[in-house]
Amino acid sequence: MHFSTSLAPIVGTLSLLQITSAFYLPGVAPTDYNSGDKVALHVNSLTPAFVSGGRPLSSIVSFDYYHTAFNFCRPKDGPKKVSESLGSILFGDRILDSPFDLYMTKNETCKNLCGVKKYEEMKSKFVNRRIRQNYNINWLVDGLPAATLDDDGGDEGEEYYSQGFPLGAVAQEGSEQEPVPHLNNHYNILIDYHEIPGRKNNQFRVVGVVVKPESRSSRVVDEEGNANCDDETAVTLNENGQTDVLFTYSVFWIPSSTVWATRWDKYLRVVEPRIHWFSLVNSAIIVVFLTGMVAMVLLRALRKDIARYNQLDLNEDVQDDSGWKLVHGDVFRSPTNPMLLSVFLGSGTQLFFMTGATIVFALLGFLSPSNRGSLGTVMILLYTLFGFIGGYVSARSYKSFGGEAWKRNIILTPLFVPGIVFGGFFLLNFFLIYEHSSGAVPLTTMLALVGIWFVISVPLSFGGSWLGFKSPPFPSPVRTNQIPRQIPDQVMYLKPVPSMLLVGILPFGAIFVELYFIMNSIWFHKVYYMFGFLFVCYGIMIMTCSTVTVLMIYFLLCSENYHWQWRSFFTAGASAIYVFLNAIIYWVSKLSLGGLTSNVLYLGYSALIGFLFFVLTGTIGFFSCWLFVRKIYGSIKIE
Ligand SMILES: *[C@@H]1O[C@H](CO)[C@@H](O)[C@H](O)[C@H]1NC(C)=O
Repeated sequence: MHFSTSLAPIVGTLSLLQITSAFYLPGVAPTDYNSGDKVALHVNSLTPAFVSGGRPLSSIVSFDYYHTAFNFCRPKDGPKKVSESLGSILFGDRILDSPFDLYMTKNETCKNLCGVKKYEEMKSKFVNRRIRQNYNINWLVDGLPAATLDDDGGDEGEEYYSQGFPLGAVAQEGSEQEPVPHLNNHYNILIDYHEIPGRKNNQFRVVGVVVKPESRSSRVVDEEGNANCDDETAVTLNENGQTDVLFTYSVFWIPSSTVWATRWDKYLRVVEPRIHWFSLVNSAIIVVFLTGMVAMVLLRALRKDIARYNQLDLNEDVQDDSGWKLVHGDVFRSPTNPMLLSVFLGSGTQLFFMTGATIVFALLGFLSPSNRGSLGTVMILLYTLFGFIGGYVSARSYKSFGGEAWKRNIILTPLFVPGIVFGGFFLLNFFLIYEHSSGAVPLTTMLALVGIWFVISVPLSFGGSWLGFKSPPFPSPVRTNQIPRQIPDQVMYLKPVPSMLLVGILPFGAIFVELYFIMNSIWFHKVYYMFGFLFVCYGIMIMTCSTVTVLMIYFLLCSENYHWQWRSFFTAGASAIYVFLNAIIYWVSKLSLGGLTSNVLYLGYSALIGFLFFVLTGTIGFFSCWLFVRKIYGSIKIE
């Protein structure tokens, strides 16, 4: 994975902005340690975890490790930020250093971390609540997340890691009493190391990190601050008084045969791979079959239509004229509100290319999970750069629709859709700030985003628009009549809402399985890496979207309704309704979020994703129909 270095020029350009100095795309080169070298342990924010068989996820708010209420030990001169990539920050990482002393191959037992910490009522209440909500502590050792060993899976006896380890545990003591939360204050840190073969002085690499936390009544036993961890009585924070807690840790360095290059494999476990494959192949076959059938039926019908129309012209026999040919004088009439449509089309094309390119990059191995936040960073970079295409498409479509207000178009294209998304993001951020969540994006990052947007994306979009307006409009294959035709009454399934609901479900069906895994990875903080599946899915979704929309528009034109432009955008875009509905079902069945903030955040983010999906699929639908309409009206003779 040395691809990341090839991105250096682009990243270099970005860092020229120097808005904040903390951004860079971290390289993924191994670090070699000599025996006794210090290995840094970094801490990330605490995140709610999903416990299989346990209660559903009850919060989606993450908290800073050094949030005062947690009362965790700090480094002597205060915690320092570790630089992160833009994507990493946006996706919620807040990485800081820690007071843990780990030295390569030096085993240690029961080290006192920072002396006795006092938990007053407020802090105890806060921490107990987080324990009940299954919060996980996230550490990074040499860039590798500290994990819990998974015991539920592994049919072949293989070990799997899941990221993070529990903040505490809830224990039932006696049948009548309330379950009591225990704080994990002793950490057994198990680090796998690999000796690099063929080096004269022995050198080592970190290849695995597991933390087995425990709750113990550890005590300080002498003046030097040495601790005793033998008392296994669990620690419970008293919500009506003060509790003294001593944090202790033991380190075990365990030789391992795992090489550095494969150290991530244990984290990247496919959950039930057979089901995954089965459902994907299943939906793929159904969708491809359906799409193929639709395409075939359509082609045959069209060929017959075209042959008939062209024959009619020869015989000068017009009495039997019916179907889509009748509206030839109106199909290329400009849609209502061409401005909004073309702005949507521009942004949709931009999204389309961004998504495609991101998936391809991921497939090529650019975005390995060891490269924290690279997915987010690359997405933002690509979206920014494709602003040029967005501007061009928007301008050219607007010109072809016969629009006049070209200045407004140029300005609206880079501002409208990103403005809605950024505005929503900004509003939701206030909820996170209010909750003191570490997920709140810092102001500097927000400014950096706005900076990148205005300094790179907007000029690129303007450039694209300028080129688009200089190009000639697309000529229509048939002339448009002066007077618009009357549209006859439409049958039920061609009315806007039924047709949208009918068509929208198919593209959604194509991505349903992958969507489930993506949502799991977003809300449960799991690594998503199945880009092969995603690539296939994206392809199938595009195919489904275009064929079913084209079929719907064919029926629409046959019933002499020529308002196909917005209709094609909305029918394809309707799959976003299902994506949002799916999010709601997931919300009801898999989550039981407590508190207003979590719920607002969940629904808000889902709505934003739904909106982007609407613009993306709508654009795919529109351009498929655009090609289709131009093709069929170009192949009939009109005197
Ligand atoms: C550290 O302790 C573990 C477990 O007791 C043991 O397997 C390992 O060999 C020890 N490592 C060293 C370097 O002594």
